[in-house]
Amino acid sequence: MCGIFGYLNYLVERDRRFILDTLTNGLSRLEYRGYDSAGLAADGDSAEETYIFKQMGKVAALKKLVNEQQVDFEKTFISHCGMAHTRWATHGQPSQLNSHPHRSDPNNEFTIVHNGIITNYKEIKTLLSKKGISFETDTDTECVAKLTKYVYETTKDQNLTFTALVKQVAKELEGSFAFIFKSVHFPNEVVATRRGSPLLVGVKTAKKLKVDFVDVEFGSAADNVTPTPAEASSTGFLSAEDGHPQLHRSQSRAFLSEDGMPQPIEFFLASDAAAIVEHTKRVLYLEDDDIAHIASGELHIHRLRRDEGASTTRSIQTLEIELAEIMKGSFDHFMQKEIYEQPESVVNTMRGRVNFEKHQVTLGGLRGYLQIMRRARRIVFIACGTSYHSCLATRGIFEELTEIPAQIELASDFLDRRTPIFRDDVCVFVSQSGETADTILAMRYCLERGALCVGITNTVGSSISRESHCGVHINAGPEIGVASTKAYTSQYIALVMMALQLSEDRLSMTERRNAIIDGLYRLPQQIKQVLNQDSNLQQLASVTLSKEKSLLLMGRGYQNATCLEGALKIKEISYMHSEGILAGELKHGPLALVDENMPVILIMTKDSLYPKVQSALQQVTARKGQPIIVCNDDDEDLLKNYKTISVPQNVDCLQGLVNIVPLQLLSYHLAVIQGVDVDFPRNLAKSVTVE
Ligand code: G6P
Repeated sequence: MCGIFGYLNYLVERDRRFILDTLTNGLSRLEYRGYDSAGLAADGDSAEETYIFKQMGKVAALKKLVNEQQVDFEKTFISHCGMAHTRWATHGQPSQLNSHPHRSDPNNEFTIVHNGIITNYKEIKTLLSKKGISFETDTDTECVAKLTKYVYETTKDQNLTFTALVKQVAKELEGSFAFIFKSVHFPNEVVATRRGSPLLVGVKTAKKLKVDFVDVEFGSAADNVTPTPAEASSTGFLSAEDGHPQLHRSQSRAFLSEDGMPQPIEFFLASDAAAIVEHTKRVLYLEDDDIAHIASGELHIHRLRRDEGASTTRSIQTLEIELAEIMKGSFDHFMQKEIYEQPESVVNTMRGRVNFEKHQVTLGGLRGYLQIMRRARRIVFIACGTSYHSCLATRGIFEELTEIPAQIELASDFLDRRTPIFRDDVCVFVSQSGETADTILAMRYCLERGALCVGITNTVGSSISRESHCGVHINAGPEIGVASTKAYTSQYIALVMMALQLSEDRLSMTERRNAIIDGLYRLPQQIKQVLNQDSNLQQLASVTLSKEKSLLLMGRGYQNATCLEGALKIKEISYMHSEGILAGELKHGPLALVDENMPVILIMTKDSLYPKVQSALQQVTARKGQPIIVCNDDDEDLLKNYKTISVPQNVDCLQGLVNIVPLQLLSYHLAVIQGVDVDFPRNLAKSVTVE
């Protein structure tokens, strides 16, 4: 959880206002990751001094605080390092003190920002307390800042480089983290490292980089020692005296310009590409246990430990997202925009993969693995939250088309049970962000057991897309709203496409497969039809539902997932209690809740289970319940006799893609009516990178 952002300029003159604005704007793009508090650290009037500003609440509050400071905003820096953080509280309540950056001492000798959880922080704290070191916050992060200073002081005689110092600190840490370190002892340098939490580095230069990769440095003892000023100046291109920072002895090939000279350069560090794309599209994704050192206009990648067979380079890739994709445009909220994008995002998921004329599906990322998958003894789908619901929504069609037993698992429970996994299992990990800690841990558990691991994610370069054997990018475009909407429909389609491709060799299924592919073709238009009813749904939310305390959603078969996902949307953003109930289970308990006052939404679109859902309708009306029915737009009987939400009909296994849209809109309007900050519901975050 949490978002971290760093900005460094080298030989590029920037004033303090520009630097502080860059830091806070970067944070705004990461705010979906947590918004309990925000803070930043920047150089004071010299790089031997660090200013820290922190504020409770959202980034806008931090911006205001920063603008009120009595500092010289016009002061320019030819080289500068700053970093910032937006917090989702895990250790210690949201408060100004517990906000990041955290510092080693009142002089801010070492400052750090952190995303993740240090699980052995108590042990570190106890150890440091015994040495007489005191703490000012309740966080796990502060002990890392204090530990860094402690290691620095106890190894002073060794003249450790900043990288070597952070290496020593990182070796002591357990848990998950992405860190940026800054220090007054190492002016104009930052060190960043990660394990389990995402971190990438954007690079911006006017001239082309010489090569598009960075060598990983495995390090010799000499690299751990800071050069003396004499050593440094004897090899550097520039001297420190003219105000320019010193160059290091080993030049990284990538960061020299074509003529071999150092060049003006800016670096951006962030938890997510969304904070970088407005500055540059050239990015490098750090891997677990990479230690990135940025100084003198160069980026060096070191490893925490020497690992056999590890890749020796990190490539500088080009981002494919556009700035417009992460802007709200004419919509009031990202969630609203993302609901409305679905007619397009579902097409993007299918683009180049579904041939509607030939009724063929080709998922390039799975091509080499189809035989293994077809021979699997079972397929296990593992995910959390909305992503889990997309697995639930497609389990039936998977089983029907492939006849491979399908099991679906919530990642946390899967791990808690230490579920048996074997080499002939195929495990599919579904995650919008590709960074959800529970899902990643479940994937590593399955990798260790030799299963084929398939990733289904929306985030290119994410941990799941990098660490899985193969997979599918859902291509829904960046999703910013904390409540997932377009990612759900795109994951759903990606899973259906996977089932279609896996079953392409089964002739007996041809007719069924063709009908589904035709249904996929109709889908964008049908979603548009539902979106056209938005004003009716807004009415329904404000007139009928907004005063209610609770709402039950019932359906069965393919619509069970729709009910669970609809209920999740309603509770997470409108804070109304809402429960999805399998209609077949109604008589086994939940019926006790039904009376004339209990609002019920019943999903009764036509499929083979329609008669069975009719009996649920009777059970509800017999208890004087007055259900709102989601039905097909040609179901005269229901349209005439009940309050309804009508939707076009599609193939049974795709109907959930149409039916979820009115529920997304309903939850959106309920939240707006309640005055909830729709894109940032309380206590939640979009990307949960802690267990
Ligand atoms: C968080 C979000 C949910 C999301 C879940 C899984 O809890 O609030 O909206 O469904 O994480 O996220 P993932 O990125 O793995 O799909």
